[in-house]
Formats: sequence, C-alpha cells, structure tokens
Amino acid sequence: MFKNSRIKAAPKVVRTEQAPVAKKPEPLPSKVAVSARREQQIARSNASSLRSSPAISNRSSPATSPSEDHEPSSRHLQVPKRKPTRQHSPSELPKFNESEDDEEGSTSFAQPVQKRQKQDNGGGKRQLRSRKAFSENDGGKFKMIHAAEIVATLRKPKAVADTSIEDVIVELQYPSASQRERYDLHFGKDRIDSIEEIIEIAKVVTKVYLTDEQAEPFLGQDNGKVIRELEKARNTLVKEPTQSRREDFKKAVDDYNTAIQRLIQDGALARNLDNRYDLPLRMVQLILRQVYDRAVSPDVDSLRKYDAGSDNVYGELLSPLVDRIFKETKITSDQVFVDLGSGVGNVVLQAALQVGCESWGCEMAPNASRLAKAQKKEFKARCRLWGIATGEVNLEADDFMMNEPIKDAVKRADVILVNNEVFSSELNNSLGLLFLDCKDGCKIVSLKSFVPEGHQITARNKGNPANVLDVKRHQYYRSDVSWTDAGGDYYIATKDPQRLADRP
Ligand SMILES: C[S@@+](CC[C@H](N)C(=O)[O-])C[C@H]1O[C@@H](n2cnc3c(N)ncnc32)[C@H](O)[C@@H]1O
Repeated sequence: MFKNSRIKAAPKVVRTEQAPVAKKPEPLPSKVAVSARREQQIARSNASSLRSSPAISNRSSPATSPSEDHEPSSRHLQVPKRKPTRQHSPSELPKFNESEDDEEGSTSFAQPVQKRQKQDNGGGKRQLRSRKAFSENDGGKFKMIHAAEIVATLRKPKAVADTSIEDVIVELQYPSASQRERYDLHFGKDRIDSIEEIIEIAKVVTKVYLTDEQAEPFLGQDNGKVIRELEKARNTLVKEPTQSRREDFKKAVDDYNTAIQRLIQDGALARNLDNRYDLPLRMVQLILRQVYDRAVSPDVDSLRKYDAGSDNVYGELLSPLVDRIFKETKITSDQVFVDLGSGVGNVVLQAALQVGCESWGCEMAPNASRLAKAQKKEFKARCRLWGIATGEVNLEADDFMMNEPIKDAVKRADVILVNNEVFSSELNNSLGLLFLDCKDGCKIVSLKSFVPEGHQITARNKGNPANVLDVKRHQYYRSDVSWTDAGGDYYIATKDPQRLADRP
C-alpha cells in the first residue's frame, strides 16, 4: 500500500571496533538468511559485550542460542536509500478478526465499540475524540499534504496526456467533520498507492469507529456491501486501468463517503469514539505512515547527509518495536515521554498518538529536525482529519545536552528513549550523568546499556550513575529497526536510588 515510505539502506559502516563474542543470531527465512547473516554479524557488536552482565537481571523475550565465535564486527546504523522501502506491506498487517494487539488492555479490532469501555491503557483519563474535529462549525479547509499533491510531483506528463485532472481525482471523507482528502487515481504504484490506502482507511474506520450494527452495511462479501464494492472496483481497475474503470472506483468511494457522512451527521462516530480509550496499532501505523509518506519520503535522501562516525548517524526504531516498548514500560496518557536524538520525530509522534501522553523530542541534525518539523505539522492536520485528540508534541531542534526545555522534560519524564547504538562513549557518559536528574522510577530505554558489563556497586564508585539503574535486557527482531533485518538487544533501565542505599 505505502510504497517507499521507510528508510532502509545498503550497508554502510560508519565506525568500527573490535567486538568480543556475539551470540548466534535468530533463525531467518532462507531467502533473506544469506544477506542478513552479514548484517547480523555487524549489527550486534556493541550490545554483545553486555550479554553476560550480572547487572542484567532478566530478559523479556525468548532467548536465542548461546554464543558462537565469529569475526570482529562493526558498529553501524544504515542510512536511507533513495527509494526507501515501506515499513509493512498490507499482507504483513494484522488481518481483521485477528486479535492483533489485545495484550495488556489494548483493543482487538474485532471487538464491538460498546464492549471496549473498560479497556484502557491510557491511564483512565484519555479523551480520544478531538472536539474541534467533530464540531459543527469545523469542516473548513486547513493546510495538509493531500495524497494527490505527492503523486502529482511524480507524474510524467506523457502519462496524463489523455486525461484531465478531474478525471483522476477522488475525494475521501474521513471520520470527522473535517475536510476531505484528494487522491490521484492515476498512479497506484509509486510513493503512495492511492487505491490501497483508500481501502485501508475505509476498513480501519469501519472497525474502529462503528458498532457492529453500524458496520453491517460496510462489511461482508455480498454485493452492495460498501467495502466489498470498493474492493471489486479496485480489482477491475487494476486489471483494466481505463477511465471507465476509474469512474467505477470513484463511484464506490462516493458511496462510502455518503454512508460515513450520514453517521457523522447523526453523531454516531463521535459517540462511539467517546466509548474508546485506545487505538489499535493498525490504525496508529496507518496514520503514522500517512504522515511519513507525505512529509518525509519526498526528501528522505537528505537523511543520508551526516558525518560517518559521528553521533549523528541516522536510523529508526519501527512502530511494532515502539509499541512493545510502550507496553513494557507501561506508559500511560498522563505521563511524559522523551526521545533524546529524535530524528524525524517518529517515536515522539507515536507516543502522542498511541499513548496520548505529553511527548518530547530533541534532534540536532539540521535535515532530520527540518523533516521532524514537517512531520509535526502534517501529524496535527491528519489527526484532525481522523478526529483524534493526541498528547502534546514538542520537538526541539537542538543539542539535547544543551537544551533547557529538554533538560526540564528529562526531569519530569516517565519514559526516556535514547537510540544510542552508535553514540560515542563520551556522549553516553554525559547521558549517564544527565539521568541522575531523572525522577525515581523513570524508565530509560536504550540500544546500548548505561550499566557496564559486570558493574557492581563498591565503596569506590558510589558516584557512578550506573549504580542507580536497574537494567533489563530485551530483544528486538527482524523488521523492528530500519538499519538491519537482523534482531538485536535493547535495554530498559529503571532509576532506583534504593539500590545505592541498600549497599553496605
Ligand atoms: C539513530 S537516530 C534515532 C532516531 C529516533 N530516535 C529513532 O530511534 O527512530 C539518533 C539521532 O540522535 C541524534 N543526536 C545525536 N547526538 C545528539 C545530540 N547531542 N543532540 C540531539 N540529537 C542528537 C542524531 O543526529 C540522530 O538523528
């Protein structure tokens, strides 16, 4: 559906160091195993030295087999490719009627709206509905990047010679009183696949915003069912991309718009949203991909521009891993999240949308922080389209060691993320000192542990920041990060000064 929306690049070593022993990587399907093997050897180097650390008290995920010797490896993150690959294909997304995220209070897609009332992973206080987006006086125009604008920038003049713009444009109603989005049906196979995106939106809206009874005219395989008609029109248009087939698809979209509009005017969607407290991951991913496709993908090459070996090497944690981090840290909507070195702001936006919490990021690289600003703007507009109230988003373009608002947010934070896989040891040491300012119980999620291997509290190291951190190792898997297809380790440390007090 969303092609080329996610960075992923050819291997590029930016810094090397001798690694001790890395454990055997998790098994991969054969077609990727060969190319991934080298990735695994490279990517796991730093964290491997911590694997046998007594400071690591537990691991949250299934362990892989014990270590095997192999060649010295390199420390790296990868840079974006010119044509980034998307994060998930539609087939990788959870299917309807699958319980895709109902651990720990999250909500299954298949569940009717009425039964969702008691499920709340947002601290019990989250108001999902944006009053502004549902207000009667809304529906006015506001700035956003319409899908058609992205596709138009890619269109070759020859390809549209036989059609006018009106012929290929369709407008889609979102589940709020806000304006419609313009899609261009001419190109289905480039940065945004308009047809697949429209169908995915229709499915998500039906499942998340409607009761079973209201969803009945939309779902099912019978002729006349709204989504079935969209799919049928899609299938024929793909086989026969003529204007007549395009008109059929536009008619199916109009029928969907009419049906949704009726429910919006009746107040049904607003009422249903008021009965929810959380959003399924599938919807979160859809909105975040829409934002990234429109604000970052057209300029993703600029993220390649950094000094190899510096602290500014770029790479992203992907949404399934971030979702697990939110669950593991049990962050709630009344808490504060901070991402130190936030890149284009993906994780900050996911926290504001999925958790609904106050969310902070700080990024010093000019290109990444410029795209973060663009994402924030588009995110705000998209959430208005979807009728969703999010947590406050704060993105600072600065050095996080120098920025006062971020230092203040660190003091108040409940969860701090630092993707420090390739940060220099000087920067990691400075971060360790910064974390002394965190409140007790604050959770620090990092790719490299802040507690050295074998660390023990002694009479001579009482001032060491590692002494107040209780760290647990966790594992990430294939497709959890942008820079490798292999898995690896990350760490969640909880600030606990009692550890120091308990020592003789
Ligand atoms: C690997 S990226 C992580 C992006 C994002 N947090 C994620 O995990 O998807 C690390 C980012 O930290 C930024 N960075 C490094 N040192 C920094 C500093 N002192 N202040 C602000 N940003 C910094 C880099 O420029 C880079 O964009």
